[in-house]
Amino acid sequence: MSEVKVLSHPLVQCHLSVLRSKTTANAEFRQSVKRLSTLLAYDATAQLETDRYDVETPLTTCDGFRLKKRVGLVPILRAGVAMVEPMLDLIPTSEVWHLGMYRDEATAEPVHYYSKLPKSSPVDVAFVLDPMLATGGSAAMAIEALEQWGVKQIKMLAIIAAPEGIQRLQEQFPKVELHACVVDEKLNDDHFIVPGLGDAGDRIFNTVG
Ligand code: PRP
Repeated sequence: MSEVKVLSHPLVQCHLSVLRSKTTANAEFRQSVKRLSTLLAYDATAQLETDRYDVETPLTTCDGFRLKKRVGLVPILRAGVAMVEPMLDLIPTSEVWHLGMYRDEATAEPVHYYSKLPKSSPVDVAFVLDPMLATGGSAAMAIEALEQWGVKQIKMLAIIAAPEGIQRLQEQFPKVELHACVVDEKLNDDHFIVPGLGDAGDRIFNTVG
């Protein structure tokens, strides 16, 4: 079973507190999601393999490195979109493949409404991006789609995760690496993460209410 890698860092704690606060305005919420995504990406990309090549500096020649494998960023619409830019800043050559899913409010089951994954030529490494891992249903559906596409290495990046979602992914996808800024206490009866931060998609896109 894969271990969940949780960030332990004072900056993560500070930015998370901004996200959690119900008085945080949308613009500031988006900024905090981006900052946390950068910190998460730093950790989640640490094992990416590189190829060596020669770099000519103004003075001499030395070792240069570039990523060896094709990287795909897979944001789950809507909220995952806010995590794309910070990842693209770090890996500008990434391909971005969107998957659209929303949770049915009555059942909390994910509804898959958008995918343009091609039939062939999968990326080598895929980073699934979603600020929230609650029941794990949406992430599981996304990972299944990527496995079907033929992606060999999949990493799930969530800012906030519930133990229920983590357990589900660990059981269903033991080879998928999980990265989170924090693991919260539990899901409530409405399948919301507690203490949580509310609905990330609504807070990012200013669609609350
Ligand atoms: C939220 C969140 C995840 C999902 C997590 O999206 O961004 O995609 O719920 O829940 P799960 O782990 O139980 O599947 P939501 O359904 O609110 O859609 P939205 O991003 O369009 O608002």
